Amino acid sequence: MEREIIHKFSESESDTINLALSFSKNLRPGDIVILNGDLGAGKTTFVKGLAKGLGVDSHIKSPTFVIIKEYKGYINLIHIDTYRIDGNDIDKIGLEEYMDGKNLIIIEWNKFDLFSEKANYKIDMKYISQNQREIVISRLR
Ligand SMILES: Nc1ncnc2c1ncn2[C@@H]1O[C@H](COP(=O)(O)OP(=O)(O)OP(=O)(O)O)[C@@H](O)[C@H]1O
Ligand SMILES: [Mg+2]
Repeated sequence: MEREIIHKFSESESDTINLALSFSKNLRPGDIVILNGDLGAGKTTFVKGLAKGLGVDSHIKSPTFVIIKEYKGYINLIHIDTYRIDGNDIDKIGLEEYMDGKNLIIIEWNKFDLFSEKANYKIDMKYISQNQREIVISRLR
């Protein structure tokens, strides 16, 4: 069952942050969110807004080189970017440890469909023009 819950056009970076902030109010510990979109679509920007809504103080940077970053908030935020994950390394990362029902996990790229079976939200971000993005948020299960 896939159901579209939000479909909006963002006109700026702060628009995207605010959209993510208001969406974050729906989130509960244990939720897993997949974030799709091309390079520069605004995935990390969306995570910044989500972090704000979850009461995370620290500055969100793209975890591209570290793959996983953990932040303390009202709900702990686990930010995963699978862009550079090598198929051989998946088992070593210990992804299951984060899926303990206490964290909010958000994944950029979802390479190898690592979280497809478990995610309950999917966000598709599309580059329209320099400052415009189309954002569709769907409930998966
Ligand atoms: N409406 C908008 N929403 C989000 N970002 C926007 C918007 N308009 C312009 N931008 C700019 O687009 C860039 C988006 O970068 P961001 O790192 O969030 O993308 P990304 O999808 O995470 O990229 P990557 O695939 O490299 O991880 C930022 O520089 C941001 O300022
Ligand atoms: Mg990014």
